[in-house]
Amino acid sequence: MAVTVRPLSAAVGVEVLGVDLKRMSEAEFRAVERAWYEHSVILLRNQQLDDNHLLAFSRRFGELDPPPNQERGRISPPGYPDIYVVSNVLDRNGDPIGALGNGEAVWHTDMSYLEMPPDASMLYALEIPPSGGNTWFCGMQAAAAALPDDLRRRLGTRRVKHDGTYNSGGYLRKGVTPTDDPMKAPGAWHPAILKHPANGRPTLYLGRRRNSYIEGLSRAESDALLEALWAHCTQPQFLYEHVWRLGDLVMWDNRSTMHRRDPFDGAARRIMHRTQIKGSGKPIAYAA
Ligand code: OGA
Ligand code: MN
Repeated sequence: MAVTVRPLSAAVGVEVLGVDLKRMSEAEFRAVERAWYEHSVILLRNQQLDDNHLLAFSRRFGELDPPPNQERGRISPPGYPDIYVVSNVLDRNGDPIGALGNGEAVWHTDMSYLEMPPDASMLYALEIPPSGGNTWFCGMQAAAAALPDDLRRRLGTRRVKHDGTYNSGGYLRKGVTPTDDPMKAPGAWHPAILKHPANGRPTLYLGRRRNSYIEGLSRAESDALLEALWAHCTQPQFLYEHVWRLGDLVMWDNRSTMHRRDPFDGAARRIMHRTQIKGSGKPIAYAA
């Protein structure tokens, strides 16, 4: 069966049809990889993967990253250190089996507080709540292309400081000292407009709003510009809302998208297994 793609939204994402990730030829993999480079988010429905299948598919994209340090450190299924659990479900001792709980996860890109953030992350849906818990994606290449001149001028070639204090659920990362001062917070500086290493296009790279700071501006100027940039890129025309079905695999490019998650009923269960592809290089500035 031929591999085909269908747009998920105007700005970002395609569904890839005709692929069983358990048995995928090299040619099929190349088509999946191309779709990912070109559209930044790919959806593959009706997959039947165990953790070994998920790892095997993930490793075709490169070396895997250890899971992010979240509110309770790194949580993996026993025997699978490269898989990470996103879940609100509690174990026998009443401890969560995964990260992020059932609240909102605010807009972010994964682990941009590191010098070399992961290229990609993917989630595979094992249990989903009857409603809520949708995951939204923002196409940051479309947002960069449509950046108003005034914002483009104010931003110039400045860098942004990305915060490593809090995760997208608002939880303090394990072992980190709380602060709301971007200058004291752990984190990394990255160019605000990156050149995508695979497709060469500019992408706006903001990371997280909290504790973010734009180089060379006063705190007040930086906050004002950040508000304007965030308001611009989270407009509906740049977004895709993913409503999960069991067996969905969604993979996103961390350099050219952001994502957030809606809250859901804490009495419902949501279990996602997740992998992350190691960064292939430091984010590079678009302006040359
Ligand atoms: C993640 C993440 C959101 C979700 O895994 O990096 O932000 O929908 N997950 O679970
Ligand atoms: Mn995330």
